[in-house]
Amino acid sequence: MSALPLRSESGVELEDLRETLCRVPSPVTVVTTLASHGPHGTTVSAFTSLSADPPLVLVALDNSSDLLALLRETGRFAVNLLGAGQEEIGRTCARKGPEKFASVAWSLDDGLPRIEGVAAWLSCEVQDLLPGGDHVIVVGLVKACDSGETEPVVFHRRRFQELAPVE
Ligand SMILES: Cc1cc2nc3c(=O)[nH]c(=O)nc-3n(C[C@H](O)[C@H](O)[C@H](O)COP(=O)(O)O)c2cc1C
Repeated sequence: MSALPLRSESGVELEDLRETLCRVPSPVTVVTTLASHGPHGTTVSAFTSLSADPPLVLVALDNSSDLLALLRETGRFAVNLLGAGQEEIGRTCARKGPEKFASVAWSLDDGLPRIEGVAAWLSCEVQDLLPGGDHVIVVGLVKACDSGETEPVVFHRRRFQELAPVE
């Protein structure tokens, strides 16, 4: 007996949805905050710019994310855009637990954890928390930002990949 395909409420098959959306290349960020126990960071690909005036960005966090619970308390977060060669940090911060940031080289910038050598960095205040199905959309007001020289790593078809220029 073959298993029935899993369908969402809308009728779309979840496997089709996953196969379709994994073809959309996305940035690899580690979103951080400074909790009472120290720094906490989570790998997040659902990051995008939203508005220039006021300067807004958004990240989408799973309802069960520990980072989301911490952001509700701290009201602040940083977005660390990982660069080529920082894939291991992306894997490490995709785990659970309060100690996952222990092996990451970081420093405090604008009162938030900044990972060494990232391609770009933003410091944000939580402006809004909006429902987004099994995720919460966290809207951040950008208070500071900085860019590095390294190229970003991207997530595409379930793999970390580096950008190649089109000649
Ligand atoms: C490449 C990649 C992208 C991810 N993107 C997201 C994301 O956009 N939102 C999210 O909630 N989890 C995302 N995750 C999963 C979280 O990193 C993972 O569930 C993590 O354990 C959550 O940690 P936390 O509970 O400490 O927040 C991603 C994982 C990987 C490997």
